[in-house]
Amino acid sequence: MLNDEKSQLQEFPQRLLDWYGGAARDLPWRIGPADRAAGRRPDPYRVWLAEIMLQQTTIPHATRYYYAFTEKWPTLAALAAARDEDVMAAWAGLGYYARARNLLKCAREVTALGRWPDTATELRLLPGIGPYTAGAVAALAFNRVEAAVDGNVERVFSRLLASSGEWSEEKKRIAGLVQSLVPADRPAEFAEALMDLGATVCSPKSPDCKACPVQKFCQASQRERPDIFPIKPRKAALPRRVGHVFVLIDQDNCIMTETRPPKGLLGGMLGLPTTVWSKVPAATNGMTEESDLVFPVAADWRQQGQVEHVFTHFALSLTVWVARTQSISGHQTTPVDEARASLPSVFAKALKRALGLLS
Ligand code: ADE
Repeated sequence: MLNDEKSQLQEFPQRLLDWYGGAARDLPWRIGPADRAAGRRPDPYRVWLAEIMLQQTTIPHATRYYYAFTEKWPTLAALAAARDEDVMAAWAGLGYYARARNLLKCAREVTALGRWPDTATELRLLPGIGPYTAGAVAALAFNRVEAAVDGNVERVFSRLLASSGEWSEEKKRIAGLVQSLVPADRPAEFAEALMDLGATVCSPKSPDCKACPVQKFCQASQRERPDIFPIKPRKAALPRRVGHVFVLIDQDNCIMTETRPPKGLLGGMLGLPTTVWSKVPAATNGMTEESDLVFPVAADWRQQGQVEHVFTHFALSLTVWVARTQSISGHQTTPVDEARASLPSVFAKALKRALGLLS
């Protein structure tokens, strides 16, 4: 089957690359087709940094962080020498904080090694680098004949093949097929072209088949509605948790904060004091009775609405409490402006709510 599919897609890589030559997106970590043809090569540090940031977030959101990081830490060695808390604070708002911890570990390992591993197999051994990132960095930074198959590439190929089998099996089939199509002379550009096709033409909800350079290979576009692909099993609703979060502000405009334990959710990040986040049945609102509530310190606490945040494995509703006090002693404090920049999103939302900045 793979051989059949491959022979039907024989001209696919060249078609795609021809299109990419004129349609490539200008991205700050990327060496565009003209520069690549002129012999310029990307900086592996920047390619890797962008890949880690782009896991589970959009290009516009990640780009801001990419510029901030590369300005603060222009080289891998500079990042490796950074203080953990500075990197965690700079990562705030990107989510998935284990990735920031692994980013630092990886920077330090590669710096100690004295060179970037330049094959997917070796890259895979580094902290925070899974099969996708290993393939992407090997292809993009080192022009290795590797595929970078993420959800976007899976979507493109599920349409090309009009995949209707069991999704976990289809994903394996697609991974094998994409790898077999990587052109030996231009693997980096092939990976970039697939990313751009998925982002600009073969988009999730409204693919623009008329603009597609590879439409003639696409079974979904010819026979069916391409937007129904990929056909995936329905996801179970996320479990819900609820809790309370406390914003105590002193007269110097500092707030009470804590550094989260190094392991676990939001590990090592700056946080606000909260109650435990209890599991509740999805159908109820499950709020704690106020009479059960233990505040972190005695103060004139006022309720200031709620914030919602969705983590990978659960959805959280926090009731926000705010109080003003003269001074905060015996606890960590952080100036409000610094906290707004350094808190992870769930707490940044709570702080905004407490300050009346969120409607
Ligand atoms: N998505 C994941 N990695 C990417 C990259 N390097 N460029 C554009 N989009 C991406």
